[in-house]
Amino acid sequence: MSQTWWRGAAIYQVYLRSFADGNGDGVGDLAGLRSRLPYLKDLGVDAIWLNPWYPSPMADGGYDVADYRDIEPVFGTLAEAEKFIAEAHELDIKVIIDVVPNHSSTESEWFKQALAGDPAARERFWFRDEPNDWQSIFGGSAWTQVADGQWYLHLFAPEQPDFNWENPEVHQEFEDVLRFWFDRGVDGVRIDSAALLFKSDTGFEDLDEVHDVYRRWREVSDEYDERILIGEVWLPDQERFARYLRPDELHTAFNFDFLACPWDPAELRRVIDLTLTTHTPVGAPPTWVLSNHDVTRPVTRYGRADTSFAHGGRLHGSPSDPELGYRRSRAAALLAMALPGSVYVYQGEELGLPEVEDLPDDLRQDPMYARSGGTNPGRDGCRIPLPWSGEEPPFGFGGDDPWLPQPESWRKLTAEAQRTDLDSMLNLYRTGLGLRRDLLGDGTLTWLELGPEVVAFTRDSGLVCVANLSTRAVPLPAGTVALSSGPLDDGLLPPDTTAWLTPPTR
Ligand code: GLC
Repeated sequence: MSQTWWRGAAIYQVYLRSFADGNGDGVGDLAGLRSRLPYLKDLGVDAIWLNPWYPSPMADGGYDVADYRDIEPVFGTLAEAEKFIAEAHELDIKVIIDVVPNHSSTESEWFKQALAGDPAARERFWFRDEPNDWQSIFGGSAWTQVADGQWYLHLFAPEQPDFNWENPEVHQEFEDVLRFWFDRGVDGVRIDSAALLFKSDTGFEDLDEVHDVYRRWREVSDEYDERILIGEVWLPDQERFARYLRPDELHTAFNFDFLACPWDPAELRRVIDLTLTTHTPVGAPPTWVLSNHDVTRPVTRYGRADTSFAHGGRLHGSPSDPELGYRRSRAAALLAMALPGSVYVYQGEELGLPEVEDLPDDLRQDPMYARSGGTNPGRDGCRIPLPWSGEEPPFGFGGDDPWLPQPESWRKLTAEAQRTDLDSMLNLYRTGLGLRRDLLGDGTLTWLELGPEVVAFTRDSGLVCVANLSTRAVPLPAGTVALSSGPLDDGLLPPDTTAWLTPPTR
């Protein structure tokens, strides 16, 4: 078993705009993040993944990148990013950044040159005389017409023109961008929309040519010491997914099957098994993800009658039982942390934040909302600024007026309020991540048969994880309870509860 850091890491996702605001303008920034590094150290994470931090008009929360070699002024400066990387490293925390190779921003130099009519610059994008019938992933046509009559392709918003990966200049550019950040100490990159780069008449998902790009990127990352490539690869076919993880391609990829899995014992077991059988042959460690900046917060999703992932989990208007959702989220967290591989924690998950579903429509910023004609509420509800301390908004986030408003009810969920409460979600994550570091992480599992509605397994260290998804309390196997997601019931494990046990000593 390889001991490289990333194989069993706990990776914390920072959505910078909403993490902490250091200069009081209502938007999170590097100053805020730097001031909260001790919080992340104390939580016990091995690495931070930051969503895009580059100069951007923010048409899609920074996934519209205007300059891949600089920092958005609202977030800070390049010098400050370098300071942040050094400070994280001093705390033994790795830094992973987001690279967006599928598309750029209409404000990028390359796209401005293309708009000015330079034919060579147009070759870097998809300009055509006639559009086809492709729809954008955010809704509406995937083509927008420019002043001289040509059309350009954008799989996402019109402000996000797609690069033409048939053009060698695009390859060169991104290899340079990778080196630019690896030279500045970045430990890895999360590759946005990693399967979409190539387009043909038949479509734009998972074309074989994309693998040559990642083989080349792997060569670049291998020029450095332990820099990793993580793919955002949403594919229904596991065999196709695994191709991205061959030994000369990406190191890991997000496990969206697990993220999308309903709270159902048979489905969970099926997805875990499928994940393990997909990853083992290519030698890549699985990842376990419960949420991110694109999906409904688990506390809300797991509280619904339908916990499946229909509509990206965005089922606004469908009632959610907050206590049930909270209990299940705690159980799911301990389950995810116990599985072999690396685990992701999206900011606020460790505070048990719910989705904010009642944002006034005129405050919604996600292009998904407007582009769907208001039928899809979009992703703002999982991107609300974090509550740190105090009794009322902005709850120590910084400034007076955060870019999205926080609910008053979050006074009970601040990091400060949870720190001193031993039973809080924050302390569950802290203790779980601490135990995980010594007893879990990379490796294998052995299933334990404790009934059809109980998901249970033993890990290499001997630690046993038991999650009860039935409606009655069940007996636990022999051992000492090291941690449980809720109180036990006379020695029995209650419904929607997960426990970790160390084996009996002889
Ligand atoms: C990815 C990101 C998402 C973004 C999209 C377009 O799916 O996670 O937030 O909107 O790519 O870049």
